[in-house]
Amino acid sequence: MTNIDEFLRCKTPESWVQAAIDDLPTLLIDHANCEKKAASTALNLMYRYVEKPAMLLKLSKLAREELRHFEQVLGIMRKREIEYQQIASARYAGELRKGVRTHEPARLIDILIVSAIVEARSCERFEALIPHLDRELSEFYTSLLKSEARHFMVYLDFARQYSTEDISDRIAFFLAEDERLILSADEDFRFHSGVPALAA
Ligand SMILES: [Fe+2]
Ligand SMILES: [Fe+2]
Repeated sequence: MTNIDEFLRCKTPESWVQAAIDDLPTLLIDHANCEKKAASTALNLMYRYVEKPAMLLKLSKLAREELRHFEQVLGIMRKREIEYQQIASARYAGELRKGVRTHEPARLIDILIVSAIVEARSCERFEALIPHLDRELSEFYTSLLKSEARHFMVYLDFARQYSTEDISDRIAFFLAEDERLILSADEDFRFHSGVPALAA
């Protein structure tokens, strides 16, 4: 995953990895939520940008893959008797989205960049977790890592393709936001949370 490690500005802090190992039920519940959200992000784009057939097709496939991941997480939760309950979402995606511009086509480009970063960060987190997990979860996360790496490229390629100008400034802007959210203290432990507040 060298390209993702080079793309992102920081690695997941060790204290987050420790918090995840200590609270696998919350990790899995929030992971299930993230897969649902990933599917709905793709669907929302499909509703809004019907005039882009190449993107519609790719995103439809991507949404199905995310729902399949959701089903797989549910399966693992059921096996481990982890009860699915409502938990508030992490600040991460909402905060990243605050920087999305509201006029078109800037809005589309920014959403595609944010989606690429969320996929890249998920991929990096799976990789950080894998050595610490039991066999079933580490195999599952190894398989997910590959699809999220692919999704990262899908979003980034469309962002480049649909933009009429160079997008490196926008990518740098959102990457700095990602870095801030990952490296600053965060009260709630979630799949995309920052440094656990107690460890900060
Ligand atoms: Fe996924
Ligand atoms: Fe994904």
